[in-house]
Amino acid sequence: MKRLVICGSPRAAGRSRALAEAVGETYARAGDAVNHVNLSDVRIAPCTGCERCAVSERTPGIDDLYCIIADDMMTVRELMNASDELTVVCPVYFSGAPSQFKAFLDRLQPYYYSSKWRAAKKRPAHLFVVGEGGDPHGFAPLVGEVRSALSVAGFRLDAVHDWVGRVEADGALAGSDRLREQPEALLAEGSAPASDYLFIEPDGIRPAGAFSACKASHTQAAACVSVRPLDDAAAQEADCG
Ligand SMILES: Cc1cc2nc3c(=O)[nH]c(=O)nc-3n(C[C@H](O)[C@H](O)[C@H](O)COP(=O)(O)O)c2cc1C
Repeated sequence: MKRLVICGSPRAAGRSRALAEAVGETYARAGDAVNHVNLSDVRIAPCTGCERCAVSERTPGIDDLYCIIADDMMTVRELMNASDELTVVCPVYFSGAPSQFKAFLDRLQPYYYSSKWRAAKKRPAHLFVVGEGGDPHGFAPLVGEVRSALSVAGFRLDAVHDWVGRVEADGALAGSDRLREQPEALLAEGSAPASDYLFIEPDGIRPAGAFSACKASHTQAAACVSVRPLDDAAAQEADCG
């Protein structure tokens, strides 16, 4: 199987890179061919919304995914198009994506206008989320952005792997002793179906547990209970508004 691992951090040697490499090594050990793209090492300018890609498909002599910005996105798209599965490892910034990673997601817009890619069978994708933790707002907006943009580009976000607060500043992974003996366990750690992050209410997208807990608390006019045990106090203050 051909895999692509995209590391969405602007930092070349941060927590996400350490996790992306460990995930890539786990895939390679299982016999898969693994390519890596590190957004810290490539040049991807933000989408300007010019909508030139809206007519690329109907313009003779040019690529149906043509974009007027000539940068490394072209190479990244080729790697994506050649992959059977995609893995994204990304830090959470204020519940969402770092701007460099958001630029990458927005530059997937040419796929939106391609009838070929719209009709293509979706391939599986995984999202590994990295963060320092301690923020009560979670990362559901990041999941929503990744799901939406990857879906346009021919991928179906299947699973979200929550590594928030579980990668040390030096890149050491939580449970590294156990992972040395059972490296494939890395792929199951903190994993939940992406559908757990599908619950949408007027003030945001929430993981299933948080949604039900908040709904119940509103019904009973009681205090809101967070499903994130580390942040209970802060989440009660922030989420129940
Ligand atoms: C602007 C900014 C916003 C951040 N927001 C969050 C957050 O909401 N939740 C969290 O757990 N960590 C947050 N962090 C911490 C980063 O996710 C953390 O430092 C992570 O290690 C960055 O990834 P990297 O080490 O791969 O660069 C934030 C960091 C920055 C710079």
